[in-house]
Amino acid sequence: MVIMSPSMTFQPVLERIAGEIERMPGRGRAADYIPALAACDPRRFGMAVAELDGTVYGVGDWRQPFSTQSITKVFTLALDLAREGDELWEHVGREPSGNPFNSLVQLEYESGIPRNPFINAGALVVTDRLQTRTGDAAGELLAFLRAESGNPSLDFDKEVAASESAHGDRNAALAHFMKSYGNIDNEVPVLLDQYFRQCSVMASCADLALAAGFLARHGSRADGSRLLTLTQAKQVNAVMLTCGTYDAAGEFAYRVGLPGKSGVGGGIIAIVPGRCTLAVWSPGLDERGNSVAGVAALDRFTTLTGVSVF
Ligand code: DON
Repeated sequence: MVIMSPSMTFQPVLERIAGEIERMPGRGRAADYIPALAACDPRRFGMAVAELDGTVYGVGDWRQPFSTQSITKVFTLALDLAREGDELWEHVGREPSGNPFNSLVQLEYESGIPRNPFINAGALVVTDRLQTRTGDAAGELLAFLRAESGNPSLDFDKEVAASESAHGDRNAALAHFMKSYGNIDNEVPVLLDQYFRQCSVMASCADLALAAGFLARHGSRADGSRLLTLTQAKQVNAVMLTCGTYDAAGEFAYRVGLPGKSGVGGGIIAIVPGRCTLAVWSPGLDERGNSVAGVAALDRFTTLTGVSVF
């Protein structure tokens, strides 16, 4: 292991990891529930690291936009928490669910309050509350991602959003069920439209590493203004660590040792508070919906550099 000193650049580490991933057999399978994701080559790989000042290092397909999917749940959580503060936690919990991300099973026992903001039920509650406060949750998210990444061309993928909608029965069921408990404000079709557009945002590893920088900067945005308090930034990072990779969160914490959030497009972001942010993309997933090469690359990064929260 090479313990990184502050003056060392991350580029050689990324190149070493890319070489190891290239030789890695078995990369999982791309998500196949919508055609736009199924078409991705599972062997593609990109990784970026952004330092607190916006310096970015990258390797492989690090500038290739991909479907961010559930990674966006981190940003909507932060945007809503910034507006409403602790009241949010009366509507969504912060415990690992131990169940798949799209599971319905706990909701009835727990009176329509989802376990955490990163399973689909919890993300729907967060988007609903952001929608109530802004009138355009997905638009608010996109504006934030563009501003923080410095990339004004970031956008929704209308084909992915339409495809999600066409295969959205389970999310619709979750939303209707929670609305029956009074835990959804907006009409379900309005909420689902916002949620599917949210999940369809296309962004690259470089974009995401930069956009997540506020979580490494303890709540401060790229322009120095504050999105979250220090405490809220700590809370979001903690929930990412315990719930960001669903029923694999224990394994992810064990291997990577960082707050992280995955998406079924094959992306994962990870945060080193006070130091840097990472984003990795490889579309082949394991059975729990996390990128096989992505987790392996993050595992190697923290192992090779000694950079982790532990
Ligand atoms: O709600 C869904 O099914 C997708 N739009 C997002 C799922 C997702 O990325 C879960 N992550 N691993």
